[in-house]
Amino acid sequence: MKIGIDDIGLYVPEHFFPLHELAVRHDIDPNKYLVGIGQEFMAVPAPDEDIVSMAANATQPLLTDELRASISTVILATESGIDQSKSAGLFVHRMLGLKADCRVIEFKQACYGATAGLQMACALVRQRPNEKILLIASDIARYKQDSEGECTQGAGAIAMIIAKDPRILEIHPHQGKYSLDVMDFWRPNFASTAFVDGKLSIDIYMESLKHSWQNYRNDGGLALTDLSYLCFHQPFTKMAKKAFSVFETLEPVAAAALGESSYADSQIYGKAIGNCYTASLYIALLSLLENNAQDLSGKNIGLFSYGSGSVGEFFSGTVVKGYAKHSRKRFHANMLERRTQLEHAQYADWFYGDKHSDAETYQTPRISSASYRFAGTEGYRRLYEENTQQALRVA
Ligand code: CAA
Repeated sequence: MKIGIDDIGLYVPEHFFPLHELAVRHDIDPNKYLVGIGQEFMAVPAPDEDIVSMAANATQPLLTDELRASISTVILATESGIDQSKSAGLFVHRMLGLKADCRVIEFKQACYGATAGLQMACALVRQRPNEKILLIASDIARYKQDSEGECTQGAGAIAMIIAKDPRILEIHPHQGKYSLDVMDFWRPNFASTAFVDGKLSIDIYMESLKHSWQNYRNDGGLALTDLSYLCFHQPFTKMAKKAFSVFETLEPVAAAALGESSYADSQIYGKAIGNCYTASLYIALLSLLENNAQDLSGKNIGLFSYGSGSVGEFFSGTVVKGYAKHSRKRFHANMLERRTQLEHAQYADWFYGDKHSDAETYQTPRISSASYRFAGTEGYRRLYEENTQQALRVA
């Protein structure tokens, strides 16, 4: 049975902050961020957006009544969780009118969570082929202000439908996994920003890729010469280049044949959005599918997922013939083009000035014009709503 990604959608916040302005603020050469890190903009969520509203907004364009009736499980992967107990997907499940005969769970293992979700979703479909799984990756990447990590922030969500006879990408059964207990990146319960040992995190990422690749090959996975494209977890797009260098060392001849063009198109969206933790790898995949000028039907893609802490997994898939007919390329391109640039003070206030996060009751300002918004809290209960009113313009 063929199982894989039947549909895929992206949501990106309506505001962004340019990295050349962050460089001015940090009094450094902008090329460190633009070239050295490989990022142009970071997506910035408004105060009435969070991982739940982004998840609902990524999923809504995918839904039909027929699909609602066949979704048996919702898996929401995130490392920016909004509750220690209740899974964020339950808010999404209610807002989007999914049926009650459905299980809803949250997955966490840093940026790797969505890949664990993908493998579980494929296994569920294999067990019950008529059911479909809604898999969402939604995150806000946030580091301490003025820290080295600030230039690798971002926000966004990917929604995917996992089903038999998929229309986009058939996932192969081979898996190369690698787990290692290491403190390269973590966020204790009290903290709203991540702690990171940046250089160590890069080293472990590459170590993890090396072992995951070897384990994938030992599991019967394709040779590098059988892969046409590569998609990497991209906390910043330069990381894809570093990841590719692992193959240049391990398999120089095959890597030279693939060349930089095997991952270049997967960097386009990431450069404009920034890190989205669990969603980043799948944003890279979407970027490749929507920006590569060739017909990718029948091409094999290798994917590497990495979550600090750490778990890595290399897996692969074949692009399904006719995938482009189901593309939302124009919709996603418009979403990115129509964004509003923020001044530094506004960006800093939204990203770091989370003054109400532990307030018992408060209302968020009405800024987002997306379909669903985070309205605030009442008695510590988070409130979400359909966005029917006119949103305020920010800039
Ligand atoms: N022009 C061009 N390039 C320049 C430059 C200039 N003027 N100045 C510096 N550079 C280059 C440097 O040479 C360097 O390139 P290489 O890495 O190819 O050598 C690059 O810019 C970055 O410079 P530094 O190494 O000095 O940067 P830094 O010390 O400020 O930190 C970072 C970079 C470690 C990535 C930091 O931003 C960080 O900690 N980010 C968060 C952690 C992270 O993203 N880790 C990635 C792996 S972990 C993971 O993937 C999970 C996850 O999502 C977090």
